[in-house]
Amino acid sequence: MKRWKKALLGCGGALVAIPVILAGVVFLFFPKSAPASAERVPRDAATLRRGEYLFRHVADCGGCHSHHDETRFGLPILGTPGRGFGLRRGGVAFGGAKLPGLYASNITPHPEHGIGRWTDGEILRAIREGVSRDGRPLFMAMPYSNYREMSDEDARAIVAYMRTMTPAADVVPASSVGFPLVVIQRFVPRPLEGPVRAPPRSNRVAYGRYLSTLASCIECHTQRDDRGDMRMDLFLAGGRPFEEPGVMHARSANLTPDPETGMQMTEEQFVSLFHSFREMAAGHAEIPQVERGKSTPMPWFAFADMEADDLRAIYAYLRTVRPIRHRVSTGVRR
Ligand code: HEC
Ligand code: HEC
Repeated sequence: MKRWKKALLGCGGALVAIPVILAGVVFLFFPKSAPASAERVPRDAATLRRGEYLFRHVADCGGCHSHHDETRFGLPILGTPGRGFGLRRGGVAFGGAKLPGLYASNITPHPEHGIGRWTDGEILRAIREGVSRDGRPLFMAMPYSNYREMSDEDARAIVAYMRTMTPAADVVPASSVGFPLVVIQRFVPRPLEGPVRAPPRSNRVAYGRYLSTLASCIECHTQRDDRGDMRMDLFLAGGRPFEEPGVMHARSANLTPDPETGMQMTEEQFVSLFHSFREMAAGHAEIPQVERGKSTPMPWFAFADMEADDLRAIYAYLRTVRPIRHRVSTGVRR
């Protein structure tokens, strides 16, 4: 064989071999994960109450992990909460990111199709460290990077509550996102570095920030750039698009204290706005139908039962963020 031919073949081999070796390294060493803890979370009444409150009314886990009535205002949950959903149709919480093949798992305690056979430690690890029971990395649409900040106590309470939910037999496939996301997502999960504590409730601003993280207020009310990073120049200034043909065409609101374009509500108005959805959330008042394509992803019905004190803490926090002049038309009428 001529020398140049050999060299060329060698190059070709390297061209194939290098990516294969790199992929091997990535798949062998990532995601970074630690063994799930062997703990059993407490299941007393107070813990269960706290868990239910956080799951349903603060973190709104059911918002992503359920089906929704897309014809009504606020996309109320349809059927058993937590039974999982193909987000490619709902995309409720992450607007732009409509990836075919992305599913929010069945997180009910069904032994085969849900998380009934997982240990408490495995569920805790999935929520805050982003790996599934078998070590598979969870796609970033599951906001585990934010839930890292969830205190050990709160995370345990959520797990305790999840055990008591109605099991649903819905079969939801594991997500499969295409290249390059399938590689990128392997680098994101990280084990926790130690115990996690919540700020004391007495520190209104810090506790409000904590709740705003768990409740994804910051997530939904801040736009992302092309690389998917939060735009700090528009932190909490709204404008994040939520587009779903036939369901919604909305932009999140500016929640900063900018006097012209930001949130103008007083604390009292803020709390009453959230609580004004209580009757509907409880099923005592009918949730209005909306014109096709005019619903909103803002989880009004989940948050309707947030405690006034917690809403006040969130309000206190929102008043401390940098005012940003950014006029947004949300495209939603209440
Ligand atoms: C913004 C949407 C969203 C929210 C909010 C959300 N999740 Fe998820 N979650 C997902 C998606 C999407 C997946 C699947 C990711 C994948 O398959 O790669 C997932 C996966 C999971 C898994 C792993 C299931 C499995 O079979 O691997 C658990 C457990 C879980 N979520 C629990 C929760 C809990 C508890 C909350 C609330 C504290 C929550 N999620 C809030 C979107 C969400
Ligand atoms: C899933 C995304 C999402 C989450 C999570 C979310 N929001 Fe929103 N929010 C929106 C969108 C979109 C709008 C605009 C449409 C509407 O008003 O319904 C909005 C509207 C609002 C409004 C009404 C503003 C006005 O002047 O009309 C307030 C107040 C608000 N959000 C506060 C919050 C707070 C506080 C949190 C966390 C506790 C939160 N949001 C979480 C998407 C979200």
